Amino acid sequence: MEEVEVREGATRLVVPPPPTDSGPGNSSMPVFFNPVMSVNRDMSVSFFRALKRDSYDAIDLLAGTGAGGVRLLNEVKADWDMVLNDVNPLASGFIRRNLEINGLEATVTELPAHKAIADKRFDVIDIDPFGTPVPYVPFAVNATRHRGIISVSATDTAVLCGTYPEASWRRYGVRTEKTPFKHEIGVRGLIAYVVRRFAERDRAAEPCLAFADEHFYRAFFQVESGSKRTDALLAKINFIGYVPETGERWVQEQPATEMIGPIWTGPLGRKSLIANMRPVSENAERLLDVLAEEADMSPFHYNADEFGKALHGRIPKMSDLLRALRLAGYRSSPTHFSPTGFKTDATVPEIEETLTKSKNI
Ligand SMILES: C[S@@+](CC[C@H](N)C(=O)[O-])C[C@H]1O[C@@H](n2cnc3c(N)ncnc32)[C@H](O)[C@@H]1O
Repeated sequence: MEEVEVREGATRLVVPPPPTDSGPGNSSMPVFFNPVMSVNRDMSVSFFRALKRDSYDAIDLLAGTGAGGVRLLNEVKADWDMVLNDVNPLASGFIRRNLEINGLEATVTELPAHKAIADKRFDVIDIDPFGTPVPYVPFAVNATRHRGIISVSATDTAVLCGTYPEASWRRYGVRTEKTPFKHEIGVRGLIAYVVRRFAERDRAAEPCLAFADEHFYRAFFQVESGSKRTDALLAKINFIGYVPETGERWVQEQPATEMIGPIWTGPLGRKSLIANMRPVSENAERLLDVLAEEADMSPFHYNADEFGKALHGRIPKMSDLLRALRLAGYRSSPTHFSPTGFKTDATVPEIEETLTKSKNI
């Protein structure tokens, strides 16, 4: 099979020639590799470096060329006992080459995912599927050790963000609709799905870091056992009200007709951990800078273009808009979900009033 060598972070990778379109790639590729998803792997490297643990029993469950697992082995200093698994026998050839050219050792398996983790326990389970992680997450519930980390990607973003509400209801049990803050709804729906699957077994999967980028969503969870911890997490799964006519949005514990949810309404990560994550690429830096600011802000954002009247049709500099809100006494932050998006604890009428009155935007 045709192959090329690329470099990601400090790691050399032999991979099939990358796809020519800009999408997330799909199962029609003989062996999957997409350079656009490198930020996904960059963020994993930063995450595990910041976690600073000494050793991990880990499995890259859907490894493809092994890019994700091989980068962790190569770039995160720890005592790794790593399994790289992919059911596609063509993939294991790439995985072995990538271990070899970086001078690394790991176990390579070609099992269907559920067999690769059956009756085993890991400190780290990475689930990076084509499309939805839903077929794999239930198998990871038992296989994740106490204080273990599960990282989950989803590329069925159109389902989670409200383009296909029926599919979202079927797959994730989340009622969605089209909103101006759609990718935030998508990431929070994915988190809620994982938290609820673990909660079924009295396990608390606390989101440590979650974000959207390009064509995927990604979330990392630390798993602990115990009904109290689990109940505390479930209390942060709520409903979002949204009125398209006025733009108003709010969090509500109990559902009512036409509400979005149930979705995660807690923080998008642990602020202290995010603050300790050092970016390994420019794209990751851009994400981390904003995530650190927005992690504990409201579970939805606004877009400047929703306030066209107050802003006289202009999109101001985001820093000016955020300053105006702060000067008026409201919390505010940018959001990685949109370059013209912002978060605040001000209501829609309060935002309108602030923007209308502000002289500096
Ligand atoms: C999106 S790709 C993984 C990409 C990889 N993690 C990376 O960073 O490049 C998904 C992989 O899952 C594998 N796969 C699909 N279904 C599987 C299953 N049931 N068990 C194990 N592997 C599977 C596919 O062969 C494919 O390589």
